[in-house]
Amino acid sequence: MAPDSPRLRMEGITKSFPGVKALKGVSFDLRPGEVHALVGENGAGKSTLLKIMTGIHPDYSGVFEYDGAPVHFRSIRDAQEAGISIVHQELNMMGDLTVAQNIFIGRESRSLFISDRELNRRAQRLIDDYDIGVEPTALLRELSVGKAQLVEIARALSFPATQVLILDEPTAALSEAESLDLLERVRRLRDGGVSVVYVSHRMHEIMAVSDRVTVLRDGENAGTVATADTTMNGIIEMMVGRQVINAPKTRSNVPRDAPVVLRADSLTSPDVKGVSFTLRAGEILGLAGLVGAGRTELMRIVAGADRASSGTVEVRGRARSFRHPHDAIRAGIAYLSEDRKRYGLLLGLSVADNSVLPSYDLVSTGPVVRNGAVSRVTRRYVEQLRIKTPSIHQATRNLSGGNQQKVVLAKWLLRDVDILIFDEPTRGIDIGARAEIYQLMNDLAAEGKSILLVSSDLDEVLHMSDRVLVMCEGRLTGELDIADATQVKIMELATKQEERDAA
Ligand SMILES: Nc1ncnc2c1ncn2[C@@H]1O[C@H](COP(=O)(O)OP(=O)(O)OP(=O)(O)O)[C@@H](O)[C@H]1O
Ligand SMILES: [Mg+2]
Repeated sequence: MAPDSPRLRMEGITKSFPGVKALKGVSFDLRPGEVHALVGENGAGKSTLLKIMTGIHPDYSGVFEYDGAPVHFRSIRDAQEAGISIVHQELNMMGDLTVAQNIFIGRESRSLFISDRELNRRAQRLIDDYDIGVEPTALLRELSVGKAQLVEIARALSFPATQVLILDEPTAALSEAESLDLLERVRRLRDGGVSVVYVSHRMHEIMAVSDRVTVLRDGENAGTVATADTTMNGIIEMMVGRQVINAPKTRSNVPRDAPVVLRADSLTSPDVKGVSFTLRAGEILGLAGLVGAGRTELMRIVAGADRASSGTVEVRGRARSFRHPHDAIRAGIAYLSEDRKRYGLLLGLSVADNSVLPSYDLVSTGPVVRNGAVSRVTRRYVEQLRIKTPSIHQATRNLSGGNQQKVVLAKWLLRDVDILIFDEPTRGIDIGARAEIYQLMNDLAAEGKSILLVSSDLDEVLHMSDRVLVMCEGRLTGELDIADATQVKIMELATKQEERDAA
């Protein structure tokens, strides 16, 4: 292979699914030791292209060369043996296996028998190296989405023979600090000669880590540029065909006398340590913190999904003790979970059925579901959120990751409650659609609804919140009015260790 010839080259790649032409003659090349970002709106075809590169979709047409020779991978194993490994957009691990088993699955040395003890020891080394803070023997399904994602990244990065590393939205479930750490690791791998394909909807990451950017639009190339020769706005315009303005909020929109609708006092559970806060009518209250800070755990208590061992929740002045999320919904609180695969969507059901699932009472007369009403409300959200699907009857499994997330959101926006808890609502959602979702959230707040916004994206927290709470290791470490909030202040509070009495 000549020194400047590409390690991987694709040309005229075409791939169809029933009712959808996902890729229409796409070209892409990857040089040794470069980070090549692949960007585009939800449904543009990014994951499909990556799945062709890694042998998951063997039925496509077009040219695919690897190290100068034509290849056609027919299985993940084919690609892996050629030195290509991937971190998928959707977590791809086995919930019932341990962390260690997940890390080493499919690559226990065939001739050598490795004991569980040895497996755990090797996993522990990796866990320490990545500072993940989990037990090798913990079951994967017991981990938060963020921790599970860190395990998956560590797994992919630890294959010794990897020449091409593909990361499909690796930081979607990570906070700012963990993302920065990952970007640093990606740079080191690149400097060691590994080629990286990097997919993300977080534009500042693309600018920070990539050497070149390829933009896909509707299954076609919209251009490839050197990152140094372009700007963030330049890339966004190639992606969505227009400017997207994302200015941070500079002052709170909540009137001083807005009534308190939710009051949490000293909530305590294994992962939450005596947290108190209030939420006002019409307020968007941001919750920032690192992965594992306890934000989701706190929200699950407020939403009736978990019980607190002590502490109280008052809704509009009335003490409440929820035993089940249904109790919270009846009290006017809806919770959009961060984990769409486990709690958010029934992947086998259609877009329409998923959208109306928690709201059957709104589209039914007695026990009879009015199909006309289902179609009407679903179409409204498909249009408003620009959900890319051939029809509202498509199984959600077949939608792109970001479009699945939009269906989850539609489901909760439909629900008529006063308090909405959004846990990572725009994870994996493209920058254009994100602006629409922000608008919807602002409209809800202007109507007097209150929103608790858990987000690992600091831009999002600063863009949307009237007030920001910051958590670290289960404790509330600070509260900032949006007028005083900055990235730096939030990061400081998010890593503020407990002050221990000097011994
Ligand atoms: N298994 C499938 N069956 C049917 N259609 C599919 C399937 N996989 C993907 N598609 C469709 O192909 C198109 C491209 O999807 P893809 O997942 O590649 O998008 P993406 O660019 O990765 O989007 P996102 O940013 O949301 O992850 C979409 O219209 C999607 O609905
Ligand atoms: Mg994708």
